[in-house]
Amino acid sequence: MEKIAMIGVGYVGLVSGTGLADFGNEVICVDIDEEKIKKLKNDILPIYEPGLLDLVKKNVDKGRLSFTTDLEGAIKKARVIFSAVPTPSAENGEVNLSYVFDVVDKLAEVIDDYKVIVTKSTVAVGTGDKIIERLLSKGVSEDMFDIVSNPEFLREGSAVGDFMRPDRVVLGTTSEKALNIMKNIYRSLYLLETPIVGTDVRTAEMIKYASNAFLATKISFINEVANICEAVDANVQEVAKAMGLDGRISKKFLHAGPGYGGSCFPKDTSAFVKIAEQAGTQAKIVETVIEVNRLQKLRVIEKLLKFVPNLKGKTIGLLGLAFKPNTDDVRDAPALTVIKEILERGGHIKGYDPEAMDEMRKHYPEITYVASSEDVVKGVDAVIILTEWNEFRNMNLEYIKSVMKKPIMIDTRNIYDPQTVIQKGFLYDCIGRLIRS
Ligand code: UDX
Repeated sequence: MEKIAMIGVGYVGLVSGTGLADFGNEVICVDIDEEKIKKLKNDILPIYEPGLLDLVKKNVDKGRLSFTTDLEGAIKKARVIFSAVPTPSAENGEVNLSYVFDVVDKLAEVIDDYKVIVTKSTVAVGTGDKIIERLLSKGVSEDMFDIVSNPEFLREGSAVGDFMRPDRVVLGTTSEKALNIMKNIYRSLYLLETPIVGTDVRTAEMIKYASNAFLATKISFINEVANICEAVDANVQEVAKAMGLDGRISKKFLHAGPGYGGSCFPKDTSAFVKIAEQAGTQAKIVETVIEVNRLQKLRVIEKLLKFVPNLKGKTIGLLGLAFKPNTDDVRDAPALTVIKEILERGGHIKGYDPEAMDEMRKHYPEITYVASSEDVVKGVDAVIILTEWNEFRNMNLEYIKSVMKKPIMIDTRNIYDPQTVIQKGFLYDCIGRLIRS
């Protein structure tokens, strides 16, 4: 099978590298972070991702997966070089490509036979062309490489399953030779009849942005519907359910909540707007999606202020800090906005998350972190459910009411039945559902 170098052992690189090894390829994962590589060599993962550790161990044992800091050596050994380095947002919403170009520069130095260069991390439309220009300008001859855009569509928390059973694999390249090499890398997926979408590089780059912008649009749309439902006494969950039964709409990504977060949607929607702007056109819908999402996060605070108008000296319990369950990631999580707003108003915070407390501590060391949901609710003036971890779905409401200072609950993930909670004597609010007291 193919020899692959996966450059960047972040979330995308580690899952993709391990998955490609499991498909039978020989994968060397490279990172400049020595500590990370040392840990991986000792079976310690730098991220929390269900099922990943077992898959890493299995493929390391089979001799198909290895980890190194030696970029030059890895490039020399492999015919296919995947770039999975970070592509963070710059201040102006553009994608910062400096890590990608660092990899390209290293490649230009050491390349001595044909390589397929694959961009896996999300890059601005036109990056493939820029990589070609850069390599040519550094004297690399054009028959020494081909460029492929192979965007990832992995969801944190279910990334292993998403990699092993994808809805589609997008391969953007104009080279028949590179396309065949890439198809071979993904050959295991043929048995599952996974659609392979072959297209040009720019179209592949655009597919990634359009997909994520569309999903973010669905979320902001249903959040807007939820807010209107609140104003007209309708129930967003039933609206979403009925809408989702229409096959053209589909039921997925129609859960109203405190706004989307994570490493992809906020970054990719901003980049989408920027790409349109730079191309002299507009992305009006996605601009609004971003604004609706910003306001949705603040809406959680508005709901809290309805019950607790003055937060000064009050303690608010937060159940869930990650941007969604099954991850320790807090990037752009609604919890970040909620914490900031409460602290600014003089409130205190007690927080609990099964996985994300260490990450949140890096942003907010000053809040109190406790070891369980039972501890969060003790003595607090209100509790806000921010992440729909399973362990929050079935809490003992009698107990919670008995230990809270005031039984106020804001359920931003709609995981409780309003009437049940209200009957237990709580002041309760949620997102877009009828509240009858
Ligand atoms: C997403 C995309 O799904 C994936 O294809 C892409 O490559 C990376 O970005 P991820 O960020 O891991 O994956 O999370 P996802 O499960 O898509 O959720 C993103 C955010 O949307 C979360 O904050 C989640 O709570 C929110 N969300 C999702 C909703 O508020 N409502 C929904 O119906 C679905």
